[in-house]
Amino acid sequence: MICFEKEKRMIHLRNKDISYYIYINEQNRLETLYFGEKLSHLDNIGALTKKNGSPERYLDCKTNKEYALEGQYKGGLSREEISTHGYRDKRGAPIIIKNELGTIDFLYVSHEIYEGIRPLATLPSADKKLSETYDIANNQENVDTIVFRLKEKDSEVYLNLSLSIYQDKNIIIKNYVLENESDKPIILNRAMSMQLDLPKSDYVLYQFAGRWYQERYEEKVPLFTGVHEVYSNVGRSSHHMNPFVFLAEKEANFEHGEVIGFNLIYSGNFKFRANVDYFHNLHITYGMNEEDFEWTLGPGDRFETPQAVISYSSEGIDRMSQNFHRFIKENIITYWHDREYKPVLFNSWEGCFFDFNTESIISYIQDAKKIGTELFVLDDGWFGARNGDTAGLGDWYINTSKFDLKRVIDECHENGMKFGIWFEPEMINADSDLFRAHPEYVLGKGGMDLTLQRHQLALDFTNPEVVDNIFEQMRKILDNYEIDYIKWDHNRDIAEHYSEYLGEGRQGEVYHRMVLGYYGLLDRLVRRYPNIMIEGCASGGGRFDMGTLYYCPQIWTSDDNDPTSRMNIQYTTSLGYPLSTMGAHVNDFKIGTYKAKSELAFWGTYGYEMNPNKLTEQEIATLDKTAQAYKKYHAEVIENGTLYHISSPFDTRYWCMQSVSTNKEKSAFLFMTKAKILQENRFFKLKGLDEKARYKSSYDDLIYTGEYLMKIGLNLSELFVNAYTTKLIFLEKVT
Ligand code: DGJ
Repeated sequence: MICFEKEKRMIHLRNKDISYYIYINEQNRLETLYFGEKLSHLDNIGALTKKNGSPERYLDCKTNKEYALEGQYKGGLSREEISTHGYRDKRGAPIIIKNELGTIDFLYVSHEIYEGIRPLATLPSADKKLSETYDIANNQENVDTIVFRLKEKDSEVYLNLSLSIYQDKNIIIKNYVLENESDKPIILNRAMSMQLDLPKSDYVLYQFAGRWYQERYEEKVPLFTGVHEVYSNVGRSSHHMNPFVFLAEKEANFEHGEVIGFNLIYSGNFKFRANVDYFHNLHITYGMNEEDFEWTLGPGDRFETPQAVISYSSEGIDRMSQNFHRFIKENIITYWHDREYKPVLFNSWEGCFFDFNTESIISYIQDAKKIGTELFVLDDGWFGARNGDTAGLGDWYINTSKFDLKRVIDECHENGMKFGIWFEPEMINADSDLFRAHPEYVLGKGGMDLTLQRHQLALDFTNPEVVDNIFEQMRKILDNYEIDYIKWDHNRDIAEHYSEYLGEGRQGEVYHRMVLGYYGLLDRLVRRYPNIMIEGCASGGGRFDMGTLYYCPQIWTSDDNDPTSRMNIQYTTSLGYPLSTMGAHVNDFKIGTYKAKSELAFWGTYGYEMNPNKLTEQEIATLDKTAQAYKKYHAEVIENGTLYHISSPFDTRYWCMQSVSTNKEKSAFLFMTKAKILQENRFFKLKGLDEKARYKSSYDDLIYTGEYLMKIGLNLSELFVNAYTTKLIFLEKVT
């Protein structure tokens, strides 16, 4: 709900847990009065505003007299919705427009309050604009929006500051849209999505940093005076830093304390910037990274910044996670089976890499069936001259000398499985027909040496002709073969960010336009083929973000299958993203048993990556057992359940978590060790059950009340447990 208290010039955004107060001060600047746990009302506004304390002063150069500068930035007291640039506030404005004076100051003109949240025209957003394609509800009834219209003091540039609050989950969405109403082009040097000023800074920042094979490693940094940045500048959301971050009060844990999570509905360069000023206030800005960014906005044009998503919890980390989980499932993902079950997947890559033919793939399909596979995915190597990673990318036609695609698809369908196929649409090898015909299609200046990564170059997706070419090639395959699923890969960062197509004066637009090209192609494919599920992948989990999730309801979490790394990766990913989006696979990595690896993979969208011809009868039985459990419990407990983290693998020698179905009738619990543990008494208190109900535990076949399990706990005390031991336990309500 959003109320405007006219006399007090105050806006109150609220739901049952949060209050967010904004004050339109007498000089028409938007001050943030309060953001946090719900307040019934707010008095003594003066004590929270810049009126409190002596104002800054300025010199009127005409009269040579000093005046008080009321209502402007006042160090230590100001909390702004949008900082000025080029004046007294040096904490970092979210928007910078190039001009002679070097000053930017946006002042309130009007506001509009409405139900729902409007779609962005150029970017994925929280409105489910694809819902028509999928014939599903777009969940607009539980959200309210206010849009403040601000005008830049000295120019005809307007800014729409949009804030939405959900009634059924503690989520706030923020973004800015710029409008150039002058008769000249303007240049944006920085266009972030939000600012949030808080009156304290004693938080710990959790960030998820890493690299290929070690995505989203948890790092905790206590905030200190100065600037801390979490960012990507490599053209994708990246392995290096994930756009999901959160701030937690120093003593916060899974159940207690204030925790504020942030994410961006965007897949390109981003920057989360936490600036603790010398008064120990916290100034957060978040949005697109301004490095190498410069955007020319013509007269009459608009520029939309991505939506930033804030998840607020006064009840610990898990509530912040659960808010994000529900928001992503209910407001971002638009796949029409998004409330349904995700099929057991088998991916050919790690079993045979490029070395396959029709017969060998058919034998994979037949053996994959024995371990419960429902969706067979043919990975890299089926097209062009792609017999290794040095050639073929960009040539999306079947390599018929190697392979009969129709026979393989028929084999899948005859065996009751869906069929999926791999594409890497944004990339090209120099050794390809497409490059020979169109060397100008790659990113980078013609004639200059270009950095290779995995022997490949990035296509210039700022150029609509390039995107059309790839779309047409994909269309010919997708129109003519019965394909149920696409694995969309992306195996390099952007190095030379130069576009021949954009030419002089527009190079600062390259990174953002590349992302727009990516979304544009996804959008066309999704609308034309609503029955095909697209799964995101980027050398494993290098593009795990909300923008990708808008089109791809699940994403490869990583290529790594070492059980310790997987535990870490799945744990951290599940803090910000729902389990139902996390590709989690078993492979033949030499550490850990198939039992342990499969019971861990159960906590995601379950799948396999190995040579199925080599599995023993016993291994087949083990894997199939987990697949059957997945089929039984996934939809209710994982896909639509509520996730609780019981212990973190970063703090203990094991990892524990639990998920509970919405009706509290079923629950799954995982205990997994990452090191050998000698004699230890362990009672794990469960969460989210019905206190009065009685549950049968698959661990010991005994019946316990919900109260017992939540107050005393599951007794997993043992004398000795080896590393990589799992216990996957199911609880079912009995009458
Ligand atoms: C990287 C992906 O993460 C792998 O699963 C596989 O698809 C390879 N690319 C294929 O080139």
